[in-house]
Amino acid sequence: MSAPRAVVVDRIGLLVTNDPTLGEGPLGIVRDAALVVYDGRVVAVERAGAVGDERIDVDGRCVIPGFVDSHTHLVFAGDRGDEFVARMAGAPYAAGGIRTTVEATRAAGDDELLRLALARRDEAARAGITTLEIKSGYGLTSHDEARCLHLATGLTDHTTFLGAHVVPAEFEGRTDDYVHHVCTDMLDAVAPHARWIDAFCEVGAFDADQCRAVLTAGMARGMGGRLHANQLGHGPGVRLGVELGCASVDHCTYLSDADVEALAASDTVATFLPAADFSTRQPYPDARRVLDAGATVALATNCNPGSSYTTSMSFCIALAVRDLRMTIDEAIRAATVGGAAALRRPDLGVLRPAARADLVVLDAPSYTHLVYRPGVPLVGATYSAGLRIDRPAG
Ligand code: NIG
Repeated sequence: MSAPRAVVVDRIGLLVTNDPTLGEGPLGIVRDAALVVYDGRVVAVERAGAVGDERIDVDGRCVIPGFVDSHTHLVFAGDRGDEFVARMAGAPYAAGGIRTTVEATRAAGDDELLRLALARRDEAARAGITTLEIKSGYGLTSHDEARCLHLATGLTDHTTFLGAHVVPAEFEGRTDDYVHHVCTDMLDAVAPHARWIDAFCEVGAFDADQCRAVLTAGMARGMGGRLHANQLGHGPGVRLGVELGCASVDHCTYLSDADVEALAASDTVATFLPAADFSTRQPYPDARRVLDAGATVALATNCNPGSSYTTSMSFCIALAVRDLRMTIDEAIRAATVGGAAALRRPDLGVLRPAARADLVVLDAPSYTHLVYRPGVPLVGATYSAGLRIDRPAG
């Protein structure tokens, strides 16, 4: 094994550190910079021309922290392209479509599920994502939830048990029995593999009492709370998530004044998933209102086969600026340090000494091009802990 070496990412035209003490504005911008990385961590932000054992010359390009994608459902089998086509022709999105993916996922072997999840993980790396949260929720038996989460532990530290995603067909009309099963046998089966617990609080999925029971049971086992809330209409989800001290409430498409006030007075992150609003033809949330109230905001892809089949954080950033009324700086922060806050990981989403060296080299002079040039693949290279991850090894 070779000893760690100091790697200098040199001749960075514009470096986003996300640390205002290191540079200009909320993004902590440093121009003509070099980033010194040692043993997978940032050790210094210097002027271009810094010396190290190895040099990566980025020739004036922009470097930003790797995207922290705090909401995905990467482990699944099957395809719901037909459902998407029907929606584009006017059919509404409903939680029940999840059962289609449950059927396909249960029928798939472990090797197949892992192959599919790895392909999506690699696609995410090519899109600049260096940290992924991955939920279960397409198994919905103790055995299938546990195996999906076990597979996910090979891809991320941030695995989330989402047994309360939808009521499976075999429990039709017996939602409370299913919730009891989730809180007992299923929780026992998944506990070794899950860092977080989540539930889908929505008409057609689970009500506030049922979600409270699930989250409370998981938290009593040491899992952190997260919640799908206010995706398809107004409801109690956001305030429930805040009350239970969830790290994040996700979707937040429909927000009342009381929801916004509760978020602003809490540590709970409001995570917007604009690609889901795009793919389900929902209205876009008004992120401006939430930001102006002082809440912490994240952006995530919500990669899943039903409501948002994308790994493109750049697309989410462009939507956030164009349609959620975020500034470009706010959207970049939400996709990096905001996602890190939603996962309670202060060492991620920033490029300052001691942070993990997760970074993206853009084929552009500025991060503004992510919005200015929508749909163009501007991620030139992605590094996780100082190692390149956007192309096959070797
Ligand atoms: O976050 N809303 C619930 N879960 C996913 C969608 C799942 C599906 O439709 O398969 C979401 O949008």
